[in-house]
Order: sequence, then structure tokens, then C-alpha cells
Amino acid sequence: MSDILDRAPKVSAPFAEAGPRPKPGILDIAPYVGGKARANGFAHPLKLSSNENILGCSPRARAGYTEAADGLQLYPDGRSDGLRAAVASHFDLEPERLIFGCGSDEVFTLLAQVYCEPGDNVVQGQYGFQAYRIAGRAAQAEVRFAPEPRFKLDVDEVLRKVDARTRIVFVANPANPTGTWNTRAEIARLHRSLPSHVVLCLDGAYAEFVEDPDWCDGLDMARGAQNIIATRTFSKAYGLAGLRVGWGYAPVAMIDAMDRIRAPFNVNVPAQAAALAALDDEAFLERSRALVREERPRLASALDVLGLVTEPSQANFVFARFPSEPGRNAAEAEAALADEGVLVRGLKTYGIGDGMRITVGLPEHNAQVIDILTAFLASC
Ligand SMILES: Cc1ncc(COP(=O)(O)O)c(C=O)c1O
Repeated sequence: MSDILDRAPKVSAPFAEAGPRPKPGILDIAPYVGGKARANGFAHPLKLSSNENILGCSPRARAGYTEAADGLQLYPDGRSDGLRAAVASHFDLEPERLIFGCGSDEVFTLLAQVYCEPGDNVVQGQYGFQAYRIAGRAAQAEVRFAPEPRFKLDVDEVLRKVDARTRIVFVANPANPTGTWNTRAEIARLHRSLPSHVVLCLDGAYAEFVEDPDWCDGLDMARGAQNIIATRTFSKAYGLAGLRVGWGYAPVAMIDAMDRIRAPFNVNVPAQAAALAALDDEAFLERSRALVREERPRLASALDVLGLVTEPSQANFVFARFPSEPGRNAAEAEAALADEGVLVRGLKTYGIGDGMRITVGLPEHNAQVIDILTAFLASC
């Protein structure tokens, strides 16, 4: 696992000696690698590489965004108060227990900055979302990776990594990039077993796509807890990844601490307006959900039929593993898809060299993925 971190480009010696010196550890951080956005020879590739919303966004959100253009000369509301009130009422939460960020990524960064100092550690799953380890290491904390047998977060493995210097445990539920999820009973046991000084961050970026009634909704867990933050995003089901709006729900004391170091105007004017309008469009959200819930199992079983190994997913993507032999492996399959203008996410940077993550698309997109992979595997 440490090889992920060791792949950070090393700064050249003369530059390091002559120029300003970053804090210890900064140059050991491998930068975030996002899903590919370009395919040679295709002006508009089919992008199934970043779990964005294939339906776009709500027309109401788009109208909110456009109307916001009239106020671009003004600073945003620094507390996102309109959006705060709308989120609080929509999810039945206390407004003062909310924090808004430039994506939920910013909330993870704020958390680590507030709670970690050198010598501390944060714990995440072996295949956990990349942004957590960057946030932790940027705060000069050690990042510990708990083994994920069967590609799912394992409560006992997480607890084995926790010690007196653990400050945050990050859990994406459902998880990215594997799509697997944890039940209420599992997360409740994790929470019960954690010392109260440890923050449990329950990241629900894909919450809207979940069907399993036993799934743990972080918002419910956070309501009565002193050390839980539940995060959500407008990037996925609401289709607003380009605007960067995420939020967290935590006890007032945690929100207060994060607010002290938050950039004053971190969520911009059109982003607040569009997110607020998006919340109001239940029909769009329902279409997004319905598409994923219908197409996800179809895509997964078509991949299974091809002999690939998929894990059950509750997110808007499917995780599949390929054979390792040359001619049939994941990297070559990714290239074969890109040759046809279809972008998916190879998972080498997550330490899963044989893995591929495919965002659920429209029925015709998923059929195209399967056709290309069928031809690819047949040609070997
Ligand atoms: C598990 C998980 N959490 C958080 C995020 C980031 O969300 P945001 O766009 O709100 O920063 C992602 C994005 O891919 C994700 O997969």
C-alpha cells in the first residue's frame, strides 16, 4: 500500500536546494489522479470514468446557475445560509450543525487540518477514496490502510489500525472505487468500539443510489453522536460535479472548529444557487436513481457473463476485475475502450492493477461497453 505513496514524483535536487521548501511529507504525497477525460480522435468521448451523472443536471439547477450570473460581482454568502436552510429542511437536520465545502473533498481537508498534527494518524480502508489520504498527509498525519478482504471495509481490520494517536477514521459508504457498502450494524459496532477522541467520518457521496435497507445512513448515525461527521455531495446524484458543492453534518463543536479555518467564501455564488435549486427537483433525482438502480445490475451481470469478476455495488458504478495475462488484462481493456471513445477508470493508482471501475451510463452506453469488451476478450 505504501507503494501508492511512494509513486509521488520526487522534486529535483537543485530545485529543492534553491527554492522554498515545502513542509516535511508534502513531496511524498502522490497527487490525486482523476478519471480520464480525453480519448485520442474523439471530440466528445463517452466519459464513464469519474462517476458523474450521465443525465446531466436538473433543469432547475441549470436555471439557478444562469440566474446567479446577475450577481457575480458580489461575494457569496460565506455561510451558504440559503443552501444551509434548504439542506436542513430537506434532510431534517439542525442548520447550525452543517458545514458546506468546495466539494466534500474540502470537508475532508478541513477535518484533517483541524484534528491532526505530526505523530497522529488517520485510518481508511485499503482501497479507500484517494482524497482521504491526501487530506491526512497534508496535515502531516500518518495514513493507515486497513486490509479489505473481499474488497469491502472490514470493521475488525479498521479497529486493529486504531491507537491512541488515531484522530480520524474515514469510511466511504458505499465505497469508491469498489462500490461495496457497510450495514448499520457494522458501522454501529465500529462507532461503539472507537475511542471518543476519534472522529468517524461517514462519507455518503453515493447515498442516493443505495437500495439495501440495511445500509448505514451516516446522517442517522451522526444525529446523536459526539464524534461523527456525515458528508454528502451534490456532485453525483444531483449532477453538479463541476460546481463543487459538498457538505458535512456534525456536532456544533466540530463545525465550529472547522469553520474557523474554512476559506471565508468557499462555495461560490452560482454553486450555491444551483445546489439550492437542485434540492427542489425531486423528479430529476428520482430519474438519476432509477437509471442507476435499473442499469447497475444489468451492466454487472453482462460483465459477469464475459467472465469478469464483479463485486455487488450500491453506487453509480460497477467494479470489475480482469484476468492478469497479457492481451486480456485491465489496462489493455481500458485502452481498447478508449480506442472506441469510451473512458473508464483503471484502478492501478488504488493498488488494484486488475481492476476497472465503470460508471453506469444510459442503456445504450452500457451496451456499447459490453460490445467493446466482448470483442476485446474474443480477440485474445
Ligand atoms: C467516496 C467519495 N467521496 C467524496 C467524493 C468527492 O465528492 P466531491 O465532488 O463532493 O468533492 C467522491 C468523488 O468521486 C467519492 O467517490
